[in-house]
Amino acid sequence: MKKKLISMLLTGVMTASLLAGCGGATAPTAPAAPAAPAAEAVEEKVEEKAEEVVEDVEEAAEEVKEEVADAGSDGLIAVGFAQVGHESDWRTASTKSCQDVFSKENGYDLSFVDCDNDEAAQKEAVRSFIEQGVDYIIIDPIIATGWDTVLTECDDAGIPVIVIDRTIDDSDKYVSWVGSDFLTEGKAAGEWLKAYVDAQGIKEVNALIIQGTIGSSAQIGRTDGFQEIADREGWTVLDKQTGDFTEAGGQEVMESYCKSYAGKFNVVICENDNEAFGAMTAMDNAGVKYGPGNDVILISYDACTAGLKEVQAGKITADFECNPLAAPTVEGVIKTLESGGTPEAQILVPDNWYALKDAIVDFSVDGNAQKMIEVTDEVIEAQY
Ligand code: AHR
Repeated sequence: MKKKLISMLLTGVMTASLLAGCGGATAPTAPAAPAAPAAEAVEEKVEEKAEEVVEDVEEAAEEVKEEVADAGSDGLIAVGFAQVGHESDWRTASTKSCQDVFSKENGYDLSFVDCDNDEAAQKEAVRSFIEQGVDYIIIDPIIATGWDTVLTECDDAGIPVIVIDRTIDDSDKYVSWVGSDFLTEGKAAGEWLKAYVDAQGIKEVNALIIQGTIGSSAQIGRTDGFQEIADREGWTVLDKQTGDFTEAGGQEVMESYCKSYAGKFNVVICENDNEAFGAMTAMDNAGVKYGPGNDVILISYDACTAGLKEVQAGKITADFECNPLAAPTVEGVIKTLESGGTPEAQILVPDNWYALKDAIVDFSVDGNAQKMIEVTDEVIEAQY
């Protein structure tokens, strides 16, 4: 910039000198005396010209500054994230994780849409990302089907899609999926229950299930996984109804279960922590005793901080984690794509199973021995 300024000044000075030179050529026979005023005039012209040049340089510098600033914002990677909604503690942790990872400071321009559990709104959010021309689209699909048309539109627009958490069953037009194995979570709950009832000498299992959002892969995996063990063990599943992964939904379903199945059930499985909180309120109101050593075994999924506190309080007997912190792994996928690589098609986020010491029993899932974690203050502190 300094060199440019000097060269512009020199150009100005030379131009001014030439002008002065031309002026001198028109009066070749002039006497020596008027030479001083002519020199002054030339000096003035040089000064004028120099000022003009400085102004030009300052203007040019301003333009360059603006260009640099624009290049900075264009340098961010534009990411659109169509989030399921805000139905649970798990969801809040997932949203925060994504917003932390895909921040301006980390080099991203994140467009975040909370789809409020509305499938049509989620597709519209994806289409709005295509219109914006984002670099990447992240989708946490509310339900597993109905995706091929909009994913084809993403494909046609050349925008890579990364699926997070829940899966898509009817399209393969995405680069990677990053999330938990819901079927294994359901089987783990079933296998733990088998080992626990055996250890407690409980002969009969009469279970009630409060399911998540019907058609979501989290619901399908957990329901199917538990049912597989229930069928193998000949347990009775008295009923299955959805609580839509919300506390209000869990309470409503449990209120109706307490009326319809009073005194007939000894296991309640809630497909997330928030449903379990609602079910606890309904059982408290109906005078049903639950938790380790009580009439009803309460099983939950997610193991968020609030869920683990209820394990510690002796309300939830076992809690099967679904880790919501997948965003750093999704960023890894984007970095791989940015560097021209091919990311893995499926990346599993590991989960843990939690209980109080007395409810920790040995069990396997598909022949693989599982390790349970005892809930302590430190464990709760480290959770989300
Ligand atoms: O898809 C993950 C599930 O959705 C979590 O278990 C639940 O809490 C959430 O709402």
